[in-house]
Amino acid sequence: MIIEKLEELLKNAFYKCGYELESIKVIKSNRPDLCDYQCDDVFKIAKVYRKNPIEIGEMIVSEINNIEEFNKYFDKVEFARPGFINIIVSDEFINNYIRSMEKDIKAIMNMPEKSETFVVDFGGANVAKPLHVGHMRTIMVGESVSRILRFLGHKTVTDVHLGDYGLQIGQVIYGVKRDGKTVDDIDIKYLDKIYPEMSSLCKSDEEVREECALITKELQAGNEEYQKLWKKIMEVSIADIKKNYDYLGANFDYWYGESDAYDYLEEVEKILESKSLLTESNGAIVVNVAKEDDKKEVPPLLFKKSNGAYLYASTDLGTIVQRMKDFNPDHILYVVDNRQGLHFEQVFRACDLSGIIPYESLEHLGYGTVNGEDGKPYKTRSGDNPKLEGLFEKAREIFISKKESNKDMSREDIDKIVNSILKFADLQNSREKDYVFDLNKFSDVSGKTGPYILYTYLRINKILKEEGMEYNLTNKIYNKADRDLRLKMLDYVDALELSYRERKPHYLAEYLYNLCTVCNIFYQTNHISGLEDKVNKNDWLYVLTISNNLIKEMLYLLGIEVPTIM
Ligand code: ARG
Repeated sequence: MIIEKLEELLKNAFYKCGYELESIKVIKSNRPDLCDYQCDDVFKIAKVYRKNPIEIGEMIVSEINNIEEFNKYFDKVEFARPGFINIIVSDEFINNYIRSMEKDIKAIMNMPEKSETFVVDFGGANVAKPLHVGHMRTIMVGESVSRILRFLGHKTVTDVHLGDYGLQIGQVIYGVKRDGKTVDDIDIKYLDKIYPEMSSLCKSDEEVREECALITKELQAGNEEYQKLWKKIMEVSIADIKKNYDYLGANFDYWYGESDAYDYLEEVEKILESKSLLTESNGAIVVNVAKEDDKKEVPPLLFKKSNGAYLYASTDLGTIVQRMKDFNPDHILYVVDNRQGLHFEQVFRACDLSGIIPYESLEHLGYGTVNGEDGKPYKTRSGDNPKLEGLFEKAREIFISKKESNKDMSREDIDKIVNSILKFADLQNSREKDYVFDLNKFSDVSGKTGPYILYTYLRINKILKEEGMEYNLTNKIYNKADRDLRLKMLDYVDALELSYRERKPHYLAEYLYNLCTVCNIFYQTNHISGLEDKVNKNDWLYVLTISNNLIKEMLYLLGIEVPTIM
Protein backbone atom coordinates (compact mmCIF):
# COMPACT_ATOMS: atom_id res chain seq x y z
CA MET A 1 0.00 0.00 0.00
CA ILE A 2 1.39 3.32 -1.05
CA ILE A 3 0.26 5.21 2.03
CA GLU A 4 1.83 2.67 4.34
CA LYS A 5 5.04 2.87 2.41
CA LEU A 6 5.13 6.63 2.78
CA GLU A 7 4.31 6.41 6.46
CA GLU A 8 7.22 4.09 6.95
CA LEU A 9 9.54 6.39 5.04
CA LEU A 10 8.45 9.45 6.93
CA LYS A 11 8.63 7.73 10.27
CA ASN A 12 12.15 6.81 9.43
CA ALA A 13 12.91 10.39 8.40
CA PHE A 14 11.50 11.72 11.68
CA TYR A 15 13.60 9.20 13.52
CA LYS A 16 16.71 10.38 11.73
CA CYS A 17 15.86 13.91 12.88
CA GLY A 18 15.71 12.70 16.45
CA TYR A 19 11.99 12.26 16.85
CA GLU A 20 10.68 8.84 17.59
CA LEU A 21 6.98 8.17 17.13
CA GLU A 22 5.12 4.92 17.36
CA SER A 23 3.06 5.62 14.29
CA ILE A 24 2.46 8.49 11.96
CA LYS A 25 -0.28 9.16 9.50
CA VAL A 26 0.09 10.16 5.86
CA ILE A 27 -2.94 11.03 3.76
CA LYS A 28 -3.55 11.98 0.17
CA SER A 29 -3.18 15.72 -0.21
CA ASN A 30 -6.20 17.94 0.37
CA ARG A 31 -4.56 20.39 -2.01
CA PRO A 32 -3.34 18.42 -5.03
CA ASP A 33 -2.21 21.71 -6.56
CA LEU A 34 0.38 22.01 -3.79
CA CYS A 35 1.53 18.48 -3.11
CA ASP A 36 0.80 14.76 -3.53
CA TYR A 37 0.58 13.62 0.07
CA GLN A 38 0.56 15.26 3.45
CA CYS A 39 1.32 14.46 7.06
CA ASP A 40 -0.50 16.38 9.79
CA ASP A 41 1.38 14.94 12.74
CA VAL A 42 3.59 17.92 13.52
CA PHE A 43 1.30 18.91 16.38
CA LYS A 44 1.60 15.45 17.77
CA ILE A 45 5.39 15.61 17.77
CA ALA A 46 5.36 19.11 19.21
CA LYS A 47 3.19 17.91 22.05
CA VAL A 48 5.29 14.88 22.84
CA TYR A 49 8.55 16.84 22.71
CA ARG A 50 7.05 20.01 24.21
CA LYS A 51 8.20 22.26 21.43
CA ASN A 52 6.71 24.86 19.18
CA PRO A 53 5.07 23.13 16.18
CA ILE A 54 6.26 25.68 13.64
CA GLU A 55 9.85 25.47 14.79
CA ILE A 56 9.83 21.71 14.92
CA GLY A 57 8.08 21.39 11.57
CA GLU A 58 10.50 23.65 9.78
CA MET A 59 13.46 21.92 11.30
CA ILE A 60 12.30 18.45 10.36
CA VAL A 61 11.58 19.47 6.81
CA SER A 62 14.95 21.10 6.29
CA GLU A 63 16.71 18.05 7.68
CA ILE A 64 14.76 15.60 5.54
CA ASN A 65 15.68 17.62 2.45
CA ASN A 66 19.32 17.36 3.45
CA ILE A 67 19.38 13.63 3.95
CA GLU A 68 20.70 12.17 0.74
CA GLU A 69 18.86 8.85 0.88
CA PHE A 70 15.45 10.50 0.78
CA ASN A 71 16.12 12.21 -2.52
CA LYS A 72 15.11 9.20 -4.44
CA TYR A 73 11.71 9.10 -2.76
CA PHE A 74 10.82 12.74 -2.35
CA ASP A 75 11.06 15.56 -4.82
CA LYS A 76 10.16 18.12 -2.25
CA VAL A 77 9.12 18.10 1.39
CA GLU A 78 7.71 21.37 2.66
CA PHE A 79 6.37 22.70 5.89
CA ALA A 80 3.06 24.56 5.74
CA ARG A 81 1.73 26.52 8.68
CA PRO A 82 0.33 25.81 11.11
CA GLY A 83 1.41 22.16 11.19
CA PHE A 84 1.45 20.29 7.92
CA ILE A 85 4.20 18.54 6.05
CA ASN A 86 3.56 18.58 2.33
CA ILE A 87 5.15 15.86 0.27
CA ILE A 88 5.84 15.76 -3.43
CA VAL A 89 7.08 12.31 -4.34
CA SER A 90 9.81 11.80 -6.90
CA ASP A 91 9.26 10.54 -10.43
CA GLU A 92 11.53 7.64 -9.60
CA PHE A 93 9.38 6.68 -6.65
CA ILE A 94 6.23 6.77 -8.80
CA ASN A 95 7.76 4.79 -11.62
CA ASN A 96 9.24 2.16 -9.38
CA TYR A 97 5.84 1.53 -7.94
CA ILE A 98 4.26 1.33 -11.38
CA ARG A 99 6.88 -1.18 -12.45
CA SER A 100 6.04 -3.34 -9.49
CA MET A 101 2.35 -3.20 -10.44
CA GLU A 102 3.09 -4.65 -13.79
CA LYS A 103 4.21 -7.94 -12.36
CA ASP A 104 1.54 -8.91 -9.93
CA ILE A 105 -0.72 -6.68 -7.93
CA LYS A 106 -0.83 -9.28 -5.21
CA ALA A 107 2.88 -8.92 -4.68
CA ILE A 108 2.49 -5.33 -3.50
CA MET A 109 -0.62 -5.87 -1.43
CA ASN A 110 -1.04 -6.84 2.15
CA MET A 111 -2.57 -10.14 1.25
CA PRO A 112 -4.66 -11.86 3.92
CA GLU A 113 -2.41 -14.09 5.96
CA LYS A 114 -4.48 -17.19 5.51
CA SER A 115 -7.14 -18.24 3.12
CA GLU A 116 -10.49 -18.47 4.86
CA THR A 117 -13.92 -19.73 3.92
CA PHE A 118 -16.70 -17.20 3.55
CA VAL A 119 -20.35 -18.06 3.07
CA VAL A 120 -21.92 -15.16 1.22
CA ASP A 121 -25.69 -15.06 1.64
CA PHE A 122 -27.20 -12.77 -0.97
CA GLY A 123 -30.03 -12.61 -3.49
CA GLY A 124 -32.62 -13.80 -0.99
CA ALA A 125 -35.63 -13.26 -3.24
CA ASN A 126 -39.02 -14.30 -1.97
CA VAL A 127 -40.61 -17.01 -4.05
CA ALA A 128 -43.95 -15.99 -5.62
CA LYS A 129 -43.32 -12.27 -5.21
CA PRO A 130 -42.32 -10.34 -8.32
CA LEU A 131 -38.75 -8.99 -8.38
CA HIS A 132 -38.39 -5.25 -8.57
CA VAL A 133 -35.67 -2.63 -8.60
CA GLY A 134 -34.94 -2.98 -4.87
CA HIS A 135 -33.83 -6.57 -5.43
CA MET A 136 -30.82 -5.55 -7.47
CA ARG A 137 -28.61 -4.18 -4.71
CA THR A 138 -28.07 -7.44 -2.91
CA ILE A 139 -27.11 -9.04 -6.22
CA MET A 140 -24.61 -6.38 -7.20
CA VAL A 141 -22.99 -5.94 -3.82
CA GLY A 142 -23.05 -9.68 -3.05
CA GLU A 143 -21.49 -10.69 -6.35
CA SER A 144 -18.81 -8.02 -6.15
CA VAL A 145 -17.90 -8.74 -2.52
CA SER A 146 -17.61 -12.44 -3.39
CA ARG A 147 -15.32 -11.68 -6.32
CA ILE A 148 -13.11 -9.45 -4.19
CA LEU A 149 -12.83 -12.16 -1.54
CA ARG A 150 -11.83 -14.76 -4.10
CA PHE A 151 -9.37 -12.37 -5.72
CA LEU A 152 -7.62 -12.09 -2.39
CA GLY A 153 -7.33 -15.82 -2.08
CA HIS A 154 -10.32 -16.70 0.06
CA LYS A 155 -12.79 -19.43 -0.62
CA THR A 156 -16.41 -18.42 -1.04
CA VAL A 157 -19.63 -20.37 -0.86
CA THR A 158 -22.49 -18.35 -2.30
CA ASP A 159 -26.04 -19.18 -1.32
CA VAL A 160 -29.16 -17.44 -2.59
CA HIS A 161 -31.23 -18.28 0.51
CA LEU A 162 -34.66 -17.88 -1.03
CA GLY A 163 -37.64 -16.88 1.05
CA ASP A 164 -39.60 -19.94 0.00
CA TYR A 165 -41.70 -21.00 2.97
CA GLY A 166 -43.25 -17.85 4.31
CA LEU A 167 -46.67 -16.33 4.50
CA GLN A 168 -46.64 -15.27 0.86
CA ILE A 169 -46.88 -18.94 -0.12
CA GLY A 170 -49.95 -19.39 2.09
CA GLN A 171 -51.44 -16.32 0.49
CA VAL A 172 -50.90 -17.59 -3.02
CA ILE A 173 -52.28 -21.02 -2.15
CA TYR A 174 -55.35 -19.35 -0.68
CA GLY A 175 -55.75 -17.44 -3.96
CA VAL A 176 -55.36 -20.59 -6.04
CA LYS A 177 -58.09 -22.31 -4.10
CA ARG A 178 -60.39 -19.32 -4.07
CA ASP A 179 -60.08 -18.99 -7.83
CA GLY A 180 -60.81 -22.69 -8.30
CA LYS A 181 -57.43 -23.17 -10.02
CA THR A 182 -55.30 -26.29 -10.09
CA VAL A 183 -51.57 -26.97 -10.15
CA ASP A 184 -51.60 -26.71 -13.93
CA ASP A 185 -52.95 -23.18 -13.89
CA ILE A 186 -50.00 -21.77 -11.95
CA ASP A 187 -47.68 -19.87 -14.24
CA ILE A 188 -45.68 -16.67 -13.86
CA LYS A 189 -48.51 -14.52 -15.17
CA TYR A 190 -50.84 -15.90 -12.58
CA LEU A 191 -48.29 -15.46 -9.79
CA ASP A 192 -47.62 -11.87 -10.78
CA LYS A 193 -51.33 -11.18 -10.55
CA ILE A 194 -52.31 -13.20 -7.49
CA TYR A 195 -49.58 -12.22 -5.05
CA PRO A 196 -50.20 -8.44 -5.04
CA GLU A 197 -53.95 -9.09 -4.97
CA MET A 198 -53.74 -11.40 -1.97
CA SER A 199 -51.26 -9.24 -0.18
CA SER A 200 -53.57 -6.25 -0.25
CA LEU A 201 -56.60 -8.40 0.58
CA CYS A 202 -54.80 -9.67 3.68
CA LYS A 203 -54.19 -6.12 4.78
CA SER A 204 -57.88 -5.33 4.82
CA ASP A 205 -59.41 -8.67 5.73
CA GLU A 206 -58.52 -10.22 9.06
CA GLU A 207 -60.29 -13.50 8.33
CA VAL A 208 -58.41 -14.06 5.09
CA ARG A 209 -55.19 -13.16 6.84
CA GLU A 210 -55.73 -15.83 9.47
CA GLU A 211 -56.71 -18.39 6.88
CA CYS A 212 -53.49 -17.69 4.95
CA ALA A 213 -51.42 -18.06 8.12
CA LEU A 214 -53.11 -21.38 8.79
CA ILE A 215 -52.39 -22.63 5.28
CA THR A 216 -48.74 -21.62 5.70
CA LYS A 217 -48.50 -23.51 8.94
CA GLU A 218 -50.13 -26.62 7.47
CA LEU A 219 -47.82 -26.44 4.48
CA GLN A 220 -44.84 -26.39 6.83
CA ALA A 221 -46.32 -29.32 8.72
CA GLY A 222 -46.43 -31.35 5.51
CA ASN A 223 -50.00 -31.05 4.18
CA GLU A 224 -49.87 -32.98 0.91
CA GLU A 225 -52.17 -30.85 -1.19
CA TYR A 226 -50.34 -27.68 -0.18
CA GLN A 227 -46.97 -29.27 -0.74
CA LYS A 228 -47.97 -30.07 -4.30
CA LEU A 229 -49.08 -26.53 -4.99
CA TRP A 230 -45.98 -25.17 -3.28
CA LYS A 231 -43.68 -27.25 -5.48
CA LYS A 232 -45.32 -25.87 -8.59
CA ILE A 233 -45.16 -22.31 -7.27
CA MET A 234 -41.45 -22.88 -6.55
CA GLU A 235 -40.76 -24.25 -9.99
CA VAL A 236 -42.44 -21.38 -11.79
CA SER A 237 -41.11 -18.64 -9.57
CA ILE A 238 -37.52 -19.89 -9.32
CA ALA A 239 -37.29 -20.14 -13.10
CA ASP A 240 -38.24 -16.47 -13.25
CA ILE A 241 -35.84 -15.47 -10.47
CA LYS A 242 -33.01 -17.40 -12.17
CA LYS A 243 -33.67 -15.64 -15.44
CA ASN A 244 -33.35 -12.24 -13.78
CA TYR A 245 -30.31 -13.16 -11.70
CA ASP A 246 -28.64 -14.63 -14.77
CA TYR A 247 -29.23 -11.41 -16.61
CA LEU A 248 -27.44 -9.59 -13.83
CA GLY A 249 -24.61 -12.10 -13.88
CA ALA A 250 -24.98 -13.37 -10.33
CA ASN A 251 -23.36 -16.70 -9.52
CA PHE A 252 -24.71 -18.97 -6.82
CA ASP A 253 -23.16 -22.21 -5.69
CA TYR A 254 -26.34 -23.15 -3.86
CA TRP A 255 -29.99 -22.42 -4.38
CA TYR A 256 -31.07 -23.22 -0.86
CA GLY A 257 -34.04 -21.60 0.77
CA GLU A 258 -35.66 -21.14 4.14
CA SER A 259 -37.52 -24.42 3.65
CA ASP A 260 -34.19 -26.28 3.73
CA ALA A 261 -33.61 -25.02 7.24
CA TYR A 262 -36.57 -27.03 8.58
CA ASP A 263 -34.44 -30.17 8.65
CA TYR A 264 -32.21 -28.47 11.21
CA LEU A 265 -34.75 -26.82 13.48
CA GLU A 266 -34.99 -29.70 15.88
CA GLU A 267 -31.26 -29.62 16.29
CA VAL A 268 -31.27 -25.87 16.84
CA GLU A 269 -33.94 -26.33 19.47
CA LYS A 270 -31.83 -28.94 21.23
CA ILE A 271 -28.77 -26.72 21.23
CA LEU A 272 -30.70 -23.77 22.60
CA GLU A 273 -32.41 -26.00 25.15
CA SER A 274 -29.11 -27.48 26.34
CA LYS A 275 -27.80 -23.98 27.02
CA SER A 276 -31.05 -23.10 28.80
CA LEU A 277 -31.63 -20.29 26.38
CA LEU A 278 -35.29 -20.99 25.59
CA THR A 279 -37.96 -19.22 27.62
CA GLU A 280 -41.68 -19.01 27.35
CA SER A 281 -43.30 -15.68 26.73
CA ASN A 282 -47.08 -15.39 26.21
CA GLY A 283 -47.21 -18.95 24.92
CA ALA A 284 -44.41 -18.38 22.44
CA ILE A 285 -40.85 -19.64 22.80
CA VAL A 286 -38.16 -16.98 22.70
CA VAL A 287 -34.45 -16.47 23.23
CA ASN A 288 -33.52 -13.46 25.34
CA VAL A 289 -30.64 -11.75 23.61
CA ALA A 290 -30.65 -8.35 25.35
CA LYS A 291 -27.47 -7.21 27.08
CA GLU A 292 -27.17 -4.99 30.07
CA ASP A 293 -25.28 -2.28 28.29
CA ASP A 294 -27.58 -2.11 25.26
CA LYS A 295 -28.27 1.49 24.35
CA LYS A 296 -31.27 0.50 22.28
CA GLU A 297 -33.63 -2.22 23.28
CA VAL A 298 -32.95 -5.55 21.61
CA PRO A 299 -36.13 -7.60 21.97
CA PRO A 300 -36.05 -11.40 22.38
CA LEU A 301 -35.65 -13.54 19.30
CA LEU A 302 -38.95 -15.23 18.49
CA PHE A 303 -38.16 -18.91 18.00
CA LYS A 304 -41.57 -20.55 17.90
CA LYS A 305 -45.02 -19.02 17.87
CA SER A 306 -47.71 -20.13 20.28
CA ASN A 307 -49.35 -22.12 17.44
CA GLY A 308 -46.10 -24.06 16.98
CA ALA A 309 -45.00 -22.30 13.77
CA TYR A 310 -41.35 -21.36 13.29
CA LEU A 311 -40.31 -17.92 12.16
CA TYR A 312 -37.80 -16.07 10.02
CA ALA A 313 -35.18 -15.99 12.79
CA SER A 314 -35.58 -19.71 13.49
CA THR A 315 -34.89 -20.57 9.86
CA ASP A 316 -31.83 -18.35 9.86
CA LEU A 317 -30.52 -20.23 12.90
CA GLY A 318 -31.26 -23.57 11.21
CA THR A 319 -29.42 -22.43 8.10
CA ILE A 320 -26.37 -21.45 10.12
CA VAL A 321 -26.26 -24.90 11.73
CA GLN A 322 -26.49 -26.44 8.28
CA ARG A 323 -23.70 -24.20 6.96
CA MET A 324 -21.43 -25.07 9.85
CA LYS A 325 -21.88 -28.74 9.06
CA ASP A 326 -21.54 -28.47 5.31
CA PHE A 327 -18.89 -25.78 4.89
CA ASN A 328 -17.43 -25.02 8.30
CA PRO A 329 -17.02 -21.35 7.34
CA ASP A 330 -14.83 -18.81 9.13
CA HIS A 331 -17.25 -16.05 8.20
CA ILE A 332 -20.85 -15.75 7.12
CA LEU A 333 -21.81 -12.54 5.35
CA TYR A 334 -25.38 -11.41 4.78
CA VAL A 335 -25.96 -8.89 2.03
CA VAL A 336 -29.42 -7.80 3.11
CA ASP A 337 -31.39 -4.54 3.39
CA ASN A 338 -30.42 -2.24 6.27
CA ARG A 339 -33.92 -2.55 7.64
CA GLN A 340 -33.15 -6.09 8.76
CA GLY A 341 -30.41 -4.91 11.09
CA LEU A 342 -32.24 -5.81 14.26
CA HIS A 343 -33.16 -9.26 12.97
CA PHE A 344 -29.53 -10.07 12.30
CA GLU A 345 -28.43 -8.64 15.61
CA GLN A 346 -30.81 -11.04 17.35
CA VAL A 347 -29.74 -14.02 15.25
CA PHE A 348 -26.02 -13.26 15.70
CA ARG A 349 -26.38 -12.92 19.44
CA ALA A 350 -28.34 -16.14 19.70
CA CYS A 351 -25.58 -17.91 17.76
CA ASP A 352 -22.95 -16.48 20.03
CA LEU A 353 -24.80 -17.34 23.25
CA SER A 354 -25.42 -20.91 22.11
CA GLY A 355 -21.90 -21.41 20.81
CA ILE A 356 -23.04 -22.19 17.27
CA ILE A 357 -20.59 -19.64 15.83
CA PRO A 358 -18.98 -16.57 17.42
CA TYR A 359 -20.61 -13.19 16.94
CA GLU A 360 -17.54 -11.76 15.17
CA SER A 361 -17.78 -14.36 12.44
CA LEU A 362 -21.18 -13.08 11.38
CA GLU A 363 -21.57 -9.86 9.42
CA HIS A 364 -24.64 -8.09 8.17
CA LEU A 365 -23.63 -6.09 5.11
CA GLY A 366 -26.62 -3.78 5.07
CA TYR A 367 -27.65 -1.69 2.11
CA GLY A 368 -29.91 1.30 1.60
CA THR A 369 -32.97 1.89 -0.51
CA VAL A 370 -33.19 2.65 -4.22
CA ASN A 371 -35.26 5.81 -4.37
CA GLY A 372 -37.12 7.79 -7.00
CA GLU A 373 -36.53 11.48 -7.51
CA ASP A 374 -39.03 12.21 -4.76
CA GLY A 375 -36.72 10.53 -2.26
CA LYS A 376 -39.16 7.68 -1.66
CA PRO A 377 -38.65 4.06 -2.76
CA TYR A 378 -38.60 3.93 -6.55
CA LYS A 379 -42.00 3.45 -8.19
CA THR A 380 -43.37 3.86 -11.70
CA ARG A 381 -45.66 6.76 -12.59
CA SER A 382 -48.68 4.58 -11.98
CA GLY A 383 -47.41 4.04 -8.45
CA ASP A 384 -46.47 0.40 -8.52
CA ASN A 385 -43.16 -1.33 -8.16
CA PRO A 386 -41.85 -1.85 -11.68
CA LYS A 387 -40.89 -5.44 -12.39
CA LEU A 388 -37.19 -6.00 -12.84
CA GLU A 389 -37.56 -7.37 -16.35
CA GLY A 390 -39.45 -4.28 -17.43
CA LEU A 391 -36.68 -2.18 -15.99
CA PHE A 392 -34.05 -4.03 -18.03
CA GLU A 393 -36.17 -3.41 -21.10
CA LYS A 394 -36.45 0.26 -20.31
CA ALA A 395 -32.70 0.58 -19.77
CA ARG A 396 -32.10 -1.02 -23.17
CA GLU A 397 -34.49 1.42 -24.81
CA ILE A 398 -32.90 4.42 -23.16
CA PHE A 399 -29.39 3.33 -24.06
CA ILE A 400 -30.34 2.67 -27.69
CA SER A 401 -32.03 6.05 -27.96
CA LYS A 402 -28.84 7.84 -26.87
CA LYS A 403 -27.06 7.44 -30.20
CA GLU A 404 -28.08 6.53 -33.72
CA SER A 405 -25.46 3.81 -34.10
CA ASN A 406 -26.42 2.08 -30.85
CA LYS A 407 -29.32 0.52 -32.76
CA ASP A 408 -26.90 -1.60 -34.74
CA MET A 409 -25.18 -3.14 -31.75
CA SER A 410 -25.65 -6.82 -31.00
CA ARG A 411 -28.15 -7.79 -28.35
CA GLU A 412 -25.33 -9.33 -26.36
CA ASP A 413 -23.31 -6.11 -26.31
CA ILE A 414 -26.34 -4.05 -25.40
CA ASP A 415 -27.09 -6.36 -22.49
CA LYS A 416 -23.53 -5.99 -21.23
CA ILE A 417 -23.86 -2.23 -21.38
CA VAL A 418 -27.23 -2.32 -19.62
CA ASN A 419 -25.55 -4.34 -16.89
CA SER A 420 -22.80 -1.78 -16.61
CA ILE A 421 -25.39 0.99 -16.37
CA LEU A 422 -27.22 -0.65 -13.50
CA LYS A 423 -24.19 -1.98 -11.68
CA PHE A 424 -22.02 1.06 -11.82
CA ALA A 425 -24.92 3.26 -10.76
CA ASP A 426 -25.38 1.06 -7.75
CA LEU A 427 -21.85 0.14 -6.78
CA GLN A 428 -20.50 3.69 -6.81
CA ASN A 429 -22.61 4.40 -3.72
CA SER A 430 -21.50 3.25 -0.33
CA ARG A 431 -23.80 0.30 0.15
CA GLU A 432 -25.48 1.47 3.33
CA LYS A 433 -26.63 4.70 1.68
CA ASP A 434 -29.83 5.22 -0.29
CA TYR A 435 -29.52 6.50 -3.83
CA VAL A 436 -31.77 8.01 -6.45
CA PHE A 437 -32.48 5.84 -9.46
CA ASP A 438 -32.22 7.88 -12.64
CA LEU A 439 -31.87 5.62 -15.67
CA ASN A 440 -31.44 8.47 -18.06
CA LYS A 441 -28.46 9.86 -16.19
CA PHE A 442 -26.95 6.42 -15.58
CA SER A 443 -27.04 5.62 -19.31
CA ASP A 444 -25.02 8.61 -20.46
CA VAL A 445 -21.64 7.91 -21.92
CA SER A 446 -20.25 10.96 -20.14
CA GLY A 447 -20.34 11.34 -16.38
CA LYS A 448 -19.90 8.86 -13.58
CA THR A 449 -21.51 5.98 -15.42
CA GLY A 450 -20.90 2.42 -16.55
CA PRO A 451 -20.87 3.37 -20.25
CA TYR A 452 -18.22 6.03 -19.56
CA ILE A 453 -15.95 3.46 -17.94
CA LEU A 454 -16.48 0.91 -20.71
CA TYR A 455 -15.91 3.55 -23.35
CA THR A 456 -12.62 4.57 -21.75
CA TYR A 457 -11.49 0.98 -21.48
CA LEU A 458 -12.26 0.21 -25.11
CA ARG A 459 -10.69 3.43 -26.28
CA ILE A 460 -7.40 2.63 -24.53
CA ASN A 461 -7.57 -0.88 -25.92
CA LYS A 462 -7.78 0.59 -29.37
CA ILE A 463 -4.77 2.83 -28.86
CA LEU A 464 -2.76 -0.09 -27.51
CA LYS A 465 -3.75 -2.37 -30.36
CA GLU A 466 -2.55 0.10 -32.94
CA GLU A 467 0.91 0.45 -31.41
CA GLY A 468 3.40 -2.19 -30.47
CA MET A 469 5.70 -1.56 -27.56
CA GLU A 470 8.79 -2.74 -25.83
CA TYR A 471 8.50 -3.68 -22.23
CA ASN A 472 10.27 -1.20 -20.05
CA LEU A 473 9.66 2.12 -18.38
CA THR A 474 12.18 4.93 -17.94
CA ASN A 475 12.10 7.22 -14.96
CA LYS A 476 10.91 10.22 -16.89
CA ILE A 477 7.49 11.83 -16.53
CA TYR A 478 6.63 14.18 -19.38
CA ASN A 479 3.84 16.52 -18.37
CA LYS A 480 1.04 17.18 -15.92
CA ALA A 481 -1.55 14.89 -17.52
CA ASP A 482 1.08 12.18 -17.51
CA ARG A 483 2.01 12.71 -13.88
CA ASP A 484 -1.62 12.92 -12.78
CA LEU A 485 -2.31 9.56 -14.34
CA ARG A 486 0.74 7.86 -12.86
CA LEU A 487 0.07 9.26 -9.43
CA LYS A 488 -3.51 8.02 -9.59
CA MET A 489 -2.34 4.53 -10.50
CA LEU A 490 -0.60 4.33 -7.16
CA ASP A 491 -3.93 4.39 -5.32
CA TYR A 492 -5.26 1.15 -6.74
CA VAL A 493 -4.12 -1.15 -3.99
CA ASP A 494 -5.47 1.15 -1.30
CA ALA A 495 -8.91 1.17 -2.94
CA LEU A 496 -8.87 -2.60 -3.25
CA GLU A 497 -7.81 -3.12 0.34
CA LEU A 498 -10.49 -0.79 1.65
CA SER A 499 -13.15 -2.52 -0.43
CA TYR A 500 -12.03 -5.81 0.98
CA ARG A 501 -11.71 -4.82 4.60
CA GLU A 502 -14.98 -2.94 4.78
CA ARG A 503 -16.76 -5.22 2.31
CA LYS A 504 -17.68 -2.15 0.28
CA PRO A 505 -17.11 -2.25 -3.45
CA HIS A 506 -17.78 1.49 -3.82
CA TYR A 507 -14.15 2.28 -2.96
CA LEU A 508 -13.14 0.39 -6.07
CA ALA A 509 -15.93 1.89 -8.17
CA GLU A 510 -14.98 5.40 -7.08
CA TYR A 511 -11.33 4.77 -7.82
CA LEU A 512 -12.16 3.19 -11.16
CA TYR A 513 -14.04 6.31 -12.18
CA ASN A 514 -11.21 8.59 -11.06
CA LEU A 515 -8.65 6.50 -12.91
CA CYS A 516 -10.74 6.62 -16.08
CA THR A 517 -11.04 10.40 -15.78
CA VAL A 518 -7.26 10.90 -15.68
CA CYS A 519 -6.82 8.34 -18.46
CA ASN A 520 -9.18 10.34 -20.62
CA ILE A 521 -7.33 13.56 -19.99
CA PHE A 522 -4.07 11.74 -20.60
CA TYR A 523 -4.86 10.42 -24.04
CA GLN A 524 -6.67 13.54 -25.10
CA THR A 525 -3.64 15.68 -24.27
CA ASN A 526 -0.96 13.23 -25.26
CA HIS A 527 -1.31 11.92 -28.79
CA ILE A 528 0.69 8.76 -28.79
CA SER A 529 0.31 7.72 -32.40
CA GLY A 530 2.07 10.76 -33.85
CA LEU A 531 5.03 10.69 -31.45
CA GLU A 532 8.50 10.67 -32.98
CA ASP A 533 10.34 10.16 -29.72
CA LYS A 534 10.44 6.36 -29.36
CA VAL A 535 11.34 6.39 -25.68
CA ASN A 536 8.55 8.74 -24.80
CA LYS A 537 6.10 6.72 -26.84
CA ASN A 538 7.11 3.52 -25.17
CA ASP A 539 6.82 5.03 -21.70
CA TRP A 540 3.32 6.19 -22.41
CA LEU A 541 2.26 2.90 -23.89
CA TYR A 542 3.59 1.19 -20.80
CA VAL A 543 1.61 3.46 -18.51
CA LEU A 544 -1.55 2.99 -20.55
CA THR A 545 -1.11 -0.76 -20.61
CA ILE A 546 -0.91 -0.99 -16.85
CA SER A 547 -3.84 1.41 -16.43
CA ASN A 548 -5.91 -0.68 -18.76
CA ASN A 549 -5.06 -3.85 -16.89
CA LEU A 550 -6.20 -2.18 -13.71
CA ILE A 551 -9.46 -1.07 -15.29
CA LYS A 552 -10.05 -4.57 -16.58
CA GLU A 553 -9.37 -6.11 -13.19
CA MET A 554 -11.71 -3.68 -11.47
CA LEU A 555 -14.49 -4.23 -13.99
CA TYR A 556 -14.21 -7.91 -13.23
CA LEU A 557 -14.27 -7.33 -9.49
CA LEU A 558 -17.38 -5.20 -9.84
CA GLY A 559 -19.01 -7.86 -12.00
CA ILE A 560 -19.15 -5.71 -15.12
CA GLU A 561 -18.57 -7.38 -18.48
CA VAL A 562 -17.04 -5.66 -21.48
CA PRO A 563 -18.89 -5.39 -24.82
CA THR A 564 -16.99 -5.82 -28.10
CA ILE A 565 -17.63 -2.24 -29.23
CA MET A 566 -19.31 0.92 -28.04
N1 ARG B 1 -36.05 -13.28 1.88
C1 ARG B 1 -35.62 -12.25 2.79
C2 ARG B 1 -36.38 -10.97 2.53
O1 ARG B 1 -36.80 -10.72 1.43
C3 ARG B 1 -34.16 -11.95 2.66
C4 ARG B 1 -33.26 -13.10 3.00
C5 ARG B 1 -31.94 -12.64 3.50
N2 ARG B 1 -31.08 -13.70 4.00
C6 ARG B 1 -31.21 -14.28 5.18
N3 ARG B 1 -30.40 -15.26 5.49
N4 ARG B 1 -32.10 -13.89 6.07
O2 ARG B 1 -36.56 -10.22 3.44
